[in-house]
Amino acid sequence: MYDSKMNLKSDDMTMTTISGREVLFSVFELKDADQLTEYYEHLSELSRKRYGPHQFDKQSIIDLYGKRGGHQGYIAREPGSPTIIAYSIIRFGCLEHDLGRLKSYGLNMDVETDSVYAPSVADAWQSCGVGNSMFLFILEDLKRIGITRVILWGGVQADNEKAVGFYKKNGFQKLGEFEHNGNNIDMMLEIKQVTA
Ligand SMILES: CC(C)(COP(=O)(O)OP(=O)(O)OC[C@H]1O[C@@H](n2cnc3c(N)ncnc32)[C@H](O)[C@@H]1OP(=O)(O)O)[C@@H](O)C(=O)NCCC(=O)NCCS
Repeated sequence: MYDSKMNLKSDDMTMTTISGREVLFSVFELKDADQLTEYYEHLSELSRKRYGPHQFDKQSIIDLYGKRGGHQGYIAREPGSPTIIAYSIIRFGCLEHDLGRLKSYGLNMDVETDSVYAPSVADAWQSCGVGNSMFLFILEDLKRIGITRVILWGGVQADNEKAVGFYKKNGFQKLGEFEHNGNNIDMMLEIKQVTA
């Protein structure tokens, strides 16, 4: 579907899409909060229906990353542009709300080594490799801090074929299914299996 070149530096990572556009990945910082709010406002209705791990007003973003802790955000931009074109969030440990379901699959959650993941890419940039490259960038970060499992944030809607394909391509495996406004799939990636 795409071909891209990647260049991993110490903190940031760049890729070039097949159409020759360069994309820079970095860790989200609070100074990026306004752009993140704008990013979310510009997502299509369908993408927002698929993606809503948290509120995207500035105060909620500040509360999430500034006060509560336990989260790491990642963003993508074209070099030199303030506009965010992709955003993903990692939460360390697991969501309280999902704990019972994850236990029912036989998983014992460990805040030191487990994480929860929710990715998104701006509509105009979807399906050209940005999501994949951003995930590689995130994986490097997670490996560095000793995370060994990545679980989907609230699962994925079963009819979200693009996302299900994306997760499968990146080595996620199905844990089970549950009903919440339709059918959803829980999936998990064991990082060690991928890197072995
Ligand atoms: C899901 C999402 C993060 C994937 O990121 P992306 O940049 O579009 O995906 P990529 O271009 O990196 O493609 C990676 C893989 O995803 C799958 N994929 C991507 N676009 C696809 C499409 N249009 N149809 C089917 N599968 C697709 C493919 O398996 C692809 O691998 P391939 O190129 O080797 O075939 C992105 O499409 C998105 O933000 N969607 C809306 C929000 C959302 O659904 N988030 C997930 C909530 S659970």
